[in-house]
Amino acid sequence: TDPALIRNFCIIAHIDHGKSTLADRMLQITGVVDDRSMRAQYLDRMDIERERGITIKSQAVRLPWDGHVLNMIDTPGHVDFTYEVSRSLQACEGAILLVDAAQGIEAQTLANLYLAMNADLHIIPVLNKIDLPAAQPEKFAEELAGLIGCDPSDVLKVSGKTGVGVRELLDHVVQTVPAPVGDADAAARALIFDSVYDTYRGVVTYVRVVDGHLGKRERILMMSTNATHETLEIGVISPEPMPADLGLGVGEVGYLITGVKDVRQSRVGDTVTSAAKSAKEMLAGYEHPKPMVFSGLYPIDGDEYPELREALDKLQLNDAALIYEPETSAALGFGFRVGFLGLLHMEIVRERLEREFGLSLISTAPNVVYRVVMEDGSELTVTNPSEFPSGGKIAQVFEPVTKSTILAPAEFIGAIMEICQGRRGQLLGMDYLSEDRVEIRYTLPLGEIIFDFFDQLKSRTRGYASLDYEPAGEQEADLVKVDILLQGEPVDAFSAIVHKDKAYAYGVDMAKKLRELIPRQQFEVPIQAAIGARVIARENIRAIRKDVLAKCYGGDISRKRKLLEKQKEGKKRMKMVGRVEVPQEAFVAALSTD
Ligand code: GTP
Repeated sequence: TDPALIRNFCIIAHIDHGKSTLADRMLQITGVVDDRSMRAQYLDRMDIERERGITIKSQAVRLPWDGHVLNMIDTPGHVDFTYEVSRSLQACEGAILLVDAAQGIEAQTLANLYLAMNADLHIIPVLNKIDLPAAQPEKFAEELAGLIGCDPSDVLKVSGKTGVGVRELLDHVVQTVPAPVGDADAAARALIFDSVYDTYRGVVTYVRVVDGHLGKRERILMMSTNATHETLEIGVISPEPMPADLGLGVGEVGYLITGVKDVRQSRVGDTVTSAAKSAKEMLAGYEHPKPMVFSGLYPIDGDEYPELREALDKLQLNDAALIYEPETSAALGFGFRVGFLGLLHMEIVRERLEREFGLSLISTAPNVVYRVVMEDGSELTVTNPSEFPSGGKIAQVFEPVTKSTILAPAEFIGAIMEICQGRRGQLLGMDYLSEDRVEIRYTLPLGEIIFDFFDQLKSRTRGYASLDYEPAGEQEADLVKVDILLQGEPVDAFSAIVHKDKAYAYGVDMAKKLRELIPRQQFEVPIQAAIGARVIARENIRAIRKDVLAKCYGGDISRKRKLLEKQKEGKKRMKMVGRVEVPQEAFVAALSTD
């Protein structure tokens, strides 16, 4: 295709503002999917995406429109997947900034807009859902125009649901998004913006060709690893993969299949060139996503450990951001310490492990990564509370902090500031986007955000506030490790790193919870919370003599046997902490956040 006829664009928006629905309409209106095969969220291919109504993986589709080729890239909206958005942006020249006409600008609208501006994209402001009775297109057109510095009349108004305005929007893309520019005669250079593992075809690599041409049956070179592969298939997605025997030229977006089995061999951000005539310089890549949140994952049934390992191996094949290593817990047995991009990523991985692989799992409370400097100058990185040194030789502890942006109606300013202050936030600034809508910026420790911050924010603002955050380095903080002991034995799964001011509350809370969850034993069991050797909270489980057979009046023998069997079954699901029997459910319940 002549590059002059190509337009590469993406849709960026806050979560739920309707990207996937708009993408669906575009597929239909351009005739790529006929009415009969249309289904909602056509491009969200994973079950979990469809059920939750969220996009996790980016998708690229080629749409024919008015003699042109439009390549549309659907991107995820959630903050955990920002890195997916930024890589998709680099494959485009334009972005549709989609805003719900009943909600207005939200935190991820801003975050995504800034990413798009940094990538030098042409921005098309669009209000969506104008069919809603609650839509206020005039008001929000002004807000949006103010934000990007255009006239309110330049803001397009559409409904992805009914299709109103979508044709005009496609025309607008053709007219205003710049055509890709590249050197057709130069050595091939294509940017990998996604790579997905497919059980049948191996790794499918999505690329945007910048210079030159990539063909079928060509030896290609991955520039960062110097690995060479042969392209077994090359093509475009429209809306299913379609082999393109002529290959891909300047400005084109498509996929490659080389028979590689592991997404790490086809790294996102890498440059593909041809092995015979290779380019000298790589394209500017992306930073590899770094896990921000860690948690221990353990099979409830210890025998399932090998299955868990296998399942993680498989998931990692198409989720390069997922990392893990084996860990053992005295209380929970063999498991893994797993690193995630954020809480949603964690929830999704866990849900996929349980659903797609049929595992039952316990996860320990999530924590961030701490840097601990000892008095002798040595340093360690702590991703697990049990690695936190207990001795008094710690000089400094550093925790990751974020720059957080909260958008909300002005009436909630007080409530928001109260929550942020309570979590050691430092106010950075505040701006009014319109008369009744403010943007509040805070420096907040990441460790405070991952602990039900979002839920609290939502409930204190009746769901009106939205949050976005980005990593902003680290800060020194007064952090301690709180251990929970049963009869003097620490239970590693319950240790937590918390701020000094919150250590007492955590200890009391955990001790109370456990007193209710752990059944009485034949002896008294003290539950203690401690910082080092100092006990900060204590509860007691009183002793009982539990004799199940007493209920049987000595009569019916078979009934007696049944009871004994049952008790044995129950024992299997018990974990021993010292002499104390703790039922599996107690761990599950105590570790679940509520
Ligand atoms: P993520 O993929 O999670 O980022 O969400 P999204 O932005 O793709 O939103 P999605 O398309 O899933 O739409 C969110 C909700 O808004 C769904 O319930 C849609 O049915 C609804 N919706 C989307 N577009 C419109 C519209 O034009 N009008 C109305 N009334 N509802 C819409």
